[in-house]
Amino acid sequence: MKILLLHGPNLSQLGVRDPAQYGDATLDDIVKLASATGASLGATVDGFVSDDEAALVTRVHAARTDGTDAIIVNAGALTHYSHALRDALGILVGMPIVEVHLSNIHARERFRHTSVIAPACTASIAGLGIDGYRLAIDAVATIARRSGA
Ligand code: DQA
Repeated sequence: MKILLLHGPNLSQLGVRDPAQYGDATLDDIVKLASATGASLGATVDGFVSDDEAALVTRVHAARTDGTDAIIVNAGALTHYSHALRDALGILVGMPIVEVHLSNIHARERFRHTSVIAPACTASIAGLGIDGYRLAIDAVATIARRSGA
């Protein structure tokens, strides 16, 4: 099973960016945690990070045909306004997609309360810090196993 782990704008700065909100872990720590969790479940994790909305949309398009079985996405601020990313994820009909946020977006500024990508996702996890990624990997592996992937 192949899981695509997508990160959007400013998430490459984790570790130095607002640790009170996002914790001390770097993006590298998150990718390592996700890869180790995936490996324990027989899955490989392919990380992709970009500050560029178009690059993320293009990577999602590629996921339709490159053997990707599931996606875990923290789209950063694009979560709140990228209808383009939402439409791209919506093309992947039937693929398990879990949205992860380190912080509890619902307990923060009003503009963060809405995720425009959520309707294209199977589920959302917010506010559990890096544990959210571990749970998301477990969730997509479970869904994929049930559907025979
Ligand atoms: C975030 C929450 C977003 O509102 C913010 O723009 C981010 C990080 C999170 O992981 O909590 O970049 O997605």
